[in-house]
Amino acid sequence: MPNTVSTRAIADKVRQQVSRKRWEHILRVAELAGEIAKANGLDPQKAYLAGLLHDVARELPEEELVRLCPPQNEVERSHPRSLHGCAGRKIADGWGVDDPEILDAVEGHVWGVSRGNLLGMAVYVADSSEPGRRVNERIRELALAGRLREAYAQAVAKKVEYLRAKGIPIHPRTLKSYAETQA
Ligand SMILES: [Fe+2]
Repeated sequence: MPNTVSTRAIADKVRQQVSRKRWEHILRVAELAGEIAKANGLDPQKAYLAGLLHDVARELPEEELVRLCPPQNEVERSHPRSLHGCAGRKIADGWGVDDPEILDAVEGHVWGVSRGNLLGMAVYVADSSEPGRRVNERIRELALAGRLREAYAQAVAKKVEYLRAKGIPIHPRTLKSYAETQA
C-alpha cells in the first residue's frame, strides 16, 4: 500500500461517492477480501483497500463513465455500466493509489483480473460471494479455505455461464480469464 494514502482517507472518499446500500456492500467486500487474503498468504490490508475501492465508480452517471473510460469494443459500448471497474481504477489512481495490483483488482472486478493477480482474485471472489448477495457460498468457503485459484475459476465460470444463458455478450477479457482459469 502506498504510504501517502491512508485506508481511512480512502474509505471516507469512497463513502461520499455511493449510496448507503452500496457502501454497506463495499464494506462487506473489503472485509471478506481481507479475510480471503489472510487465508491465502496475501496482504490483507492491500486486499481491504482494493475492496474499498472496487465499486467507487459504480453510481457515476453513464456519461461520466464513458468520459473516464471511452468504450473500446462492442460490449463496452452497449453496456457502459460495465465501465465502472475501469473508471474506478482511474479515480483510485487520481487519489494517489499507485499499487498496480490494487488498480488491476479494481478494474478487474467486472471483467476479470490479469493472470496471476491473486489479490485481484481475492476481490473478485469477495465481490461475487459476499454474504449480502446470498449466493456463491461454496465459492466463498473455498477461498476462505486457502483455495483461492479454484474459487476464482469457479466464480468466472459461473459468470460466463450466466451471461451465456441470458444471451448477454461477454467481454473479451472475461473470456480470456475464463480460458486461462479453466485450463
Ligand atoms: Fe462492481
